Amino acid sequence: MRCVIIAPPEPTQQWKENLERVAPHINIQIGLNGEHPEEVMFAMVWKQPIGSLVRFKNLKLVFSMGAGVDHVLKDNTIPSHIPICRVIDPQMAFSMSNYILMAILNHQRSMYDFQKAQKQKHWAQFEFNERQLKIGFLGTGHLGMDAALKLKYLGFKVSGFSNSPKKTSFPSYSGDELEEFLSKINVLVCLVPYTPKTHALLNYNLFKKLKEPTYLINVSRGSVQVENDIFKALDEGLLSGVFLDVFEQEPLPKESLLWLHPKVNLTPHIASLTYPKESIQQVLHCYQCIEKNLPIPQQVDRTKMY
Ligand code: GLV
Repeated sequence: MRCVIIAPPEPTQQWKENLERVAPHINIQIGLNGEHPEEVMFAMVWKQPIGSLVRFKNLKLVFSMGAGVDHVLKDNTIPSHIPICRVIDPQMAFSMSNYILMAILNHQRSMYDFQKAQKQKHWAQFEFNERQLKIGFLGTGHLGMDAALKLKYLGFKVSGFSNSPKKTSFPSYSGDELEEFLSKINVLVCLVPYTPKTHALLNYNLFKKLKEPTYLINVSRGSVQVENDIFKALDEGLLSGVFLDVFEQEPLPKESLLWLHPKVNLTPHIASLTYPKESIQQVLHCYQCIEKNLPIPQQVDRTKMY
């Protein structure tokens, strides 16, 4: 049996090594140029070139090497009968939740102000209060839910907004309740998948619906945010600060004003990493389910795009 990996070199190498370890019988093709493409049964991809999968006539599974599938679904030449699956992984949720927690705690305990004070050898005792946070999760899928529940457990006030109504142990909004949700928070954590519906969702109109100056954390996709509107909202005080892991253009161009803005903290799209060691088991499991005609776990709904 043969599989193909189409991805940048570094993740390719890690996924290859892990697949060799757990399934030495599988013949692994790297990239598009192997002979007998009809022998390839499943593909593991990250940003594959559009149209590149059609040569694999007997493909039974396309697996996104990350949680997001916008990079796969850009390509509408993948025949609709081929299931697309994605990583849904406790290790990834652990990584994402810790990132969000880090951003929230630094904000809550005014860590950036204390760092400035330290540089000036200034003893800033009692100058900064612990902030009373009302944390709203825009998107409560696998990753959003994990972070929301962990923060709730730690004693934070948490609420969520999701595409479809959800039963949760914290206040939860959906559909036309976005405005109500936004009126009740002062931290907005964005974890929505990128779809035509979420394109440019974090824009000035949305920021205007916030009732309190709000701290924005975006760990979803850069195309969900409008960076010019973020600057405007920071200037006007609608946003009190932002912590961004994703950008309209990546890598973030050197000339972007985000790099040095005093109210911006940023990281280079590393909020949650994929762990090939765990994820490779998921690929194999999805493939076995397809072979046995069993329900396929982690399958993406192509109309919802997640
Ligand atoms: C990373 O951004 C992912 O989608 O896994």
